[in-house]
Parts: sequence; C-alpha cells; structure tokens
Amino acid sequence: MKRIAILTSGGDAPGMNAAIRSAVRSALNRGMEAYGIYRGYEGLLDGDMKEMNWASMGDILHRGGTILKTARSNRFMELKWQEHAVQMLETFGIEGLIICGGDGTHKGGLDLDKLGFRVMAVPVTIDNDLGYTDYTIGFDTAVNTILELISKIRDTSSAHERTTIVEVMGRNCGDLALHSGLSGGADVIMVPEIPVDINEVCRKVLRGQSTGKNHSLIVKAEGVSHLSGGDPISAEELAVIMEERTGREARCVVPGYIQRGGNPTGRDRMIASLTAEKAVDLLYNDYESRAIGMSGDELITVPLAEATEMKKEINENIYKLAEIMAGGM
Ligand code: F6P
Repeated sequence: MKRIAILTSGGDAPGMNAAIRSAVRSALNRGMEAYGIYRGYEGLLDGDMKEMNWASMGDILHRGGTILKTARSNRFMELKWQEHAVQMLETFGIEGLIICGGDGTHKGGLDLDKLGFRVMAVPVTIDNDLGYTDYTIGFDTAVNTILELISKIRDTSSAHERTTIVEVMGRNCGDLALHSGLSGGADVIMVPEIPVDINEVCRKVLRGQSTGKNHSLIVKAEGVSHLSGGDPISAEELAVIMEERTGREARCVVPGYIQRGGNPTGRDRMIASLTAEKAVDLLYNDYESRAIGMSGDELITVPLAEATEMKKEINENIYKLAEIMAGGM
C-alpha cells in the first residue's frame, strides 16, 4: 500500500491529535504517503484533504481537539454518498483509510468496507461506549476533568451543606459517571444501564444526612432518562425533587463540553499512539478492515464488522463498590 489517509469524526476527544500524529509518522516511517482528511466523512465527500508530512505533525501531541476538525455527516448515511466517498478516495489514489472516532464513525467505516474499501478503526470517544474494546481514547482525560470539577464542587457544596447533582456526558453509556463517581466519592451514581427509583436516590441521600454527612454528591449520566415507574428526568428536575424530599438545598451542575476539551492525559496519548500505529501496520500488511482496541493492557484487533456488533456492558462490580464506599446499598 502506497498511500493512506486518516480522518477524525463524531464528537472530538482528547487524544485525537496524538492518534493523527502516530498514524502519519508511522506511515511515513514505512515509506507510505499519508493524507489528512478534514471534517470527517463530510470533508471526505467534498475531497477536503491534503498530504501530511513529518513537520505538520509537530506540536500537536499534547493538544485537545483535532487538527483535522470533525463533523457528523448526514449525507454519508446514504449509499449514493458512500459510493461517492469511495470514488473520492480512489481519485486521490488512497488505498486505505484510518478512522478515529466512536460508534457512528465505526459504522461509517463499515459502510466503506462493504463497498470494498480497506478501513482500520481507532476508538476515540470520551464515552467509552464501544463493545469491542475495554478502553476508548479520551475517556481518561474526561474522567480527570470531571474529577477536578467535583473537587471544586465539593468545597462549595460542603460550605453550604447542599446536595449537588453533577450531570456528565456519555450518551447511553454510564462509564463516565461510574468512574468519576467512584473516584470522586459520590453518594449516588445514576447510570442508564441500571435503573434506579427516585425514592432509592432520596433514601441514600437521607441516610448520608442521618449519619452526619453535611453535603451530598450525586453523579448522574446524561443518558439516565427513566427512573423506574417515572418520567424522563433532567438534572434540574432531579435537584427540585431532592430539595423537596430531603429538606436540604440542592443544586445541579452540567459541565457539558468542558468534558471534551483539554490536554490528553499520558494514558490517552499512549493508547492513541499505540493503536494508530497498529492501524498503519495492518494497512501496510494488507489486512482486511479491522478495529483496534484494548483488552486490559493488551492491544487487540477485531474484524470491523464484528466490532460494530459487540455491545458494551456496564461493570457491575465497580457500581457495587461505589455503593459500598458511599455507605452500603
Ligand atoms: O459522543 C461524545 C459526546 O460528547 C456524548 O457524550 C454527547 O452526548 C454527545 O457527544 C454530544 O454531541 P454534540 O457534540 O453533537 O452535541
């Protein structure tokens, strides 16, 4: 393979630049040419790409965001545009593509694979919601960002003796809430995968109050929409209910896009560098389309079609441990 390309797509995540850098420099190191495609699949459809060189990868390793920009493409959902994308890649003489992103990005890669184009997928999303890999790049940075916020929130929450609800991202996956909740000492963690009744949330907060806790922290995943027997609930609504039922002032904090920014942690830079290099290696050695991921600390690769079918599951042991740490079930 002589010429490959790389794109970033979907929600950005810290570590995308580290992956781009690793892919481009690994390709150059093997004597291949590397193109960067701007604005994900959307840019691919427009032929928005240019050749990258060693120097153009300088000074990006430590930066959040993505120098290639990112987008969510509606056009790319249609077969005629997917065919157009393959034609575009062929026009530029590109023989293999590395895609960096989450669920939607992987599905887009599979669409190209079905049209006979070689695609390697690098898992990058703060959500950690991909079934085939234990880890997605960006997750560690996001957890640490949330923890910094939680530390600050604890100060004011304790000073005012309040309950504070922190709503974190993650779509339908509770991993960001689970990991930041356990590491941040939350009294209650609410994840979409494990429905919890509002009465149960109140009971846990009241139990904390009765044992002398002067403030409470609830970490809620954005994907928690249904409490059993109840309607969809937002962080604001939850704060109102908590205040009414526990008699203690409640506030909510929704950090939003702050969770997606910032310099990637060492872990995210490492895994981005390793997985993107592996993607290049697979293209160089003419492998069929695969997704690269982690099983524990081991690098793994899975056929792309299989990878997109695998379902992510919440780690119930972590959830139970968080409950114990908060004072029991
Ligand atoms: O997938 C990453 C993510 O940040 C999710 O956690 C969140 O639900 C979503 O993207 C937000 O998407 P957008 O950038 O389109 O608002």
